[in-house]
Amino acid sequence: MKDQPNIAVIGAGVIGMTVAKLFQDQLRNANITVIAEKYSADTTSDVAAGIFKPGTHFKGSTKEITKKWLTDSWHFWQDILKSPDAEQMGVMPLGSYIFSKENYHVTRNHLIEGLVPIYRPATKEELKMAPEGTKFGSYFSTLKVECERYLPWTGKTLVERGAKMIRGKVESFASLSNYDLVFNCAGLGAKYLCNDYDLVPIRGQIIKVNAPWVKHALYGDYDTYIIPGLNGMVTLGGVRGFDSYNLNYSKYDAADILERCCEFLPDLKNAEVIAHKVGLRPHRMPVRVEPELIDGLKVVHCYGHGGNGVMTAPGTAIDAVEIGLNFLRSNVRNKL
Ligand SMILES: Cc1cc2nc3c(=O)[nH]c(=O)nc-3n(C[C@H](O)[C@H](O)[C@H](O)COP(=O)(O)OP(=O)(O)OC[C@H]3O[C@@H](n4cnc5c(N)ncnc54)[C@H](O)[C@@H]3O)c2cc1C
Ligand SMILES: *[C@@H]1O[C@H](CO)[C@@H](O)[C@H](O)[C@H]1NC(C)=O
Ligand SMILES: *[C@@H]1O[C@H](CO)[C@@H](O)[C@H](O)[C@H]1NC(C)=O
Repeated sequence: MKDQPNIAVIGAGVIGMTVAKLFQDQLRNANITVIAEKYSADTTSDVAAGIFKPGTHFKGSTKEITKKWLTDSWHFWQDILKSPDAEQMGVMPLGSYIFSKENYHVTRNHLIEGLVPIYRPATKEELKMAPEGTKFGSYFSTLKVECERYLPWTGKTLVERGAKMIRGKVESFASLSNYDLVFNCAGLGAKYLCNDYDLVPIRGQIIKVNAPWVKHALYGDYDTYIIPGLNGMVTLGGVRGFDSYNLNYSKYDAADILERCCEFLPDLKNAEVIAHKVGLRPHRMPVRVEPELIDGLKVVHCYGHGGNGVMTAPGTAIDAVEIGLNFLRSNVRNKL
């Protein structure tokens, strides 16, 4: 292995930035270049509420890998929560309720019930927080990561330690043949880079409102959620448009979201709207974290996190980085 290997990371969303940061932690002399079309505020990652509540469909290639990704991710964020930098990095603890009028199963989550400190049924008294007719509920303690802070913080740390960030579109892996190793963290962009038809956008839209009085996250039927964040900013959602590529804001979606959220908290009607945002979740089952030798170029893929990429970024990045280090040290290229 070269003393100072040249590493490219495609993508500056939560996956690319986390992979770049963890790789730099492991190999401080690596020459890391992040290449991305879009940074910080323009990424899908920046649209996310970033709550640690995986969809129960979330998975890696085996059950053990899925569990490891979630456990590693949880501990990564918990370690940040114990540090004085937590708020600056956008990480905060958050209590959360899931309510449903009809479906008991949506109030359960086998992926985190043994992981978060508290996961219990809602009490009779707590069920009254939900719209009339609500039969089922759970409360759990979790956390949330705001990419508005996490991405700039991670980027600053990377650059201070010698990484470079360049803006540009990678048209093919062949254009990166001068690198010793490439991490493909292109999110939905991987669909075209890899001709991967298993990768599908799931369109989401949210409203950011100023409502510092909201203290808990609330989930209801029909993808309804109210998620408080730092600085009094609350995320209202949501919608899920399978295979939709439309990044335009829809006023019909916004009206629908607001109406559903007001069923829980009527005062949200009067909250100041800060922004409407739309993002395409890069959905793939399973999430792809694996090496591939492409015309002699060592590539490690890390994409397809769907609606779960913020919370699971660290776990998948730890695996991608380990795969990358082994790949870099192997002489597989020389055998060709
Ligand atoms: C409404 C909504 C709510 C969400 N809520 C949550 C939540 O509460 N919790 C959670 O964990 N997740 C949530 N998510 C999901 C989360 O946003 C995604 O899983 C995550 O952002 C994926 O990160 P990424 O880095 O893979 O993709 P992105 O953030 O899309 O980043 C991809 C990067 O690759 C670059 N790129 C792509 N192709 C190329 C190319 N050819 N050349 C150069 N650069 C390229 C892009 O410019 C960008 O920099 C939500 C998503 C949405 C839309
Ligand atoms: C680091 O990588 C950049 C981008 O590929 C390259 O221009 C530069 O020469 C590299 N530096 C070293 C010391 O190899
Ligand atoms: C998005 O909005 C732009 C500008 O209003 C419009 O030209 C475009 O057709 C819209 N795209 C879709 C998919 O509706």
